Amino acid sequence: MANFRKLDDLGDVAGKVALVRVDLNLPMQDGAVTDDTRIRAALPTIKDLSEKGAKILLLAHFGRPKGKRDPNQSLSLVVGEVEKVLGREVMFIPEISGDVVKQSVGILGNGDIGLLENTRFWPGEEANDVELVKAIAANGDFYVNDAFSAAHRAHATTEGLAHVLPAYAGRSMQAELEALGKALDNPVKPVAAVVGGAKVSSKLDVLKHLVTKVDHLVIGGGMANTFLAARGVNVGKSLCEHDLTGTAEAIMDAADEAGCTIHLPYEVVVSKTFEANPPSLRTTNVHEVAQDEMILDVGPSAVESVGDALKTCRTLVWNGPMGAFETVPFDAATVALAKIAAALTKEGSLVSVAGGGDTVAALHHAGVAGDFSYISTAGGAFLEWMEGRVLPGVKALEI
Ligand code: 3PG
Repeated sequence: MANFRKLDDLGDVAGKVALVRVDLNLPMQDGAVTDDTRIRAALPTIKDLSEKGAKILLLAHFGRPKGKRDPNQSLSLVVGEVEKVLGREVMFIPEISGDVVKQSVGILGNGDIGLLENTRFWPGEEANDVELVKAIAANGDFYVNDAFSAAHRAHATTEGLAHVLPAYAGRSMQAELEALGKALDNPVKPVAAVVGGAKVSSKLDVLKHLVTKVDHLVIGGGMANTFLAARGVNVGKSLCEHDLTGTAEAIMDAADEAGCTIHLPYEVVVSKTFEANPPSLRTTNVHEVAQDEMILDVGPSAVESVGDALKTCRTLVWNGPMGAFETVPFDAATVALAKIAAALTKEGSLVSVAGGGDTVAALHHAGVAGDFSYISTAGGAFLEWMEGRVLPGVKALEI
């Protein structure tokens, strides 16, 4: 893992202004935050800086307002939730640079917290405009990036600021980099990756990269059907990207060459209709799927043999569910495999890292999220990391 400055490297920062990039792109429903994980992720950094007496200015984006003010995407909507999680008052500042911010800094005491407006209200954020970067930096003494989940964006507050101010990785960023480094950069071998989800097309680069990095690649979800079809299996009316069977074949060839074993389901759960507990539900060998059936989950024996493979591994990276997990009983394979991985982690034989919105939801649903070694808060950034790409926000922190 590359070297970067951490909060432990900070000298005396009492009275200094910390510009802290966090990810407050929070899921909301009917005006209420439905998941505060990302606020909690920022807590250690905020606490640490506050205890050191820095004045904290939180920077974050919210939604995709495309360079314009939009009251429905104002961070003023989440400031109450941030206060609730932090257990203290947070001053909302409706700008990200200029005199209003300067005056607010004057009002904040040492250790106090201000939350600046949605950075994406200004077009210079996404353009990584140097003038905006300078204007934001003018009100700060140093920069802390604690938003790994936005680090795949080369924006003014995720990347630009690191070039004009002394830059540090926050606690959450540090934890992500250390955990992910252990999982793919310098893993204890053998390494397994579980990749699921609906479509091969959305994870092509992930799969191409992983076959060169891991010993076992378990493919589940709708995307497994494309691989099965490439192997000549009749997948009936399952979700399948038939135009990508050639690509799937090329990935399997690359895996062979790299010594990576690909695990595709040999037993599947099928139904004629996609609904909860459908009458036509059955578990079958993958070669016996009827023309009017669709594959909706991996069968229990196939999950067990993946579990056996995991028992021989020391590291696991997981992204994407094994089946249509939001509809019962097609959550069974994801839940069963998650439980196996969690048990192996608890025994100490496996380091398990998972990420991505659906994946984290699935692990919570299985009741084992707390038993994994590390759960990333990132969605898109986690996938880009799994593709082996350099994340600009991380790169900018390197020294
Ligand atoms: C996320 O929610 O994954 C991050 O905050 C990045 O958001 P974006 O995809 O709108 O850049």
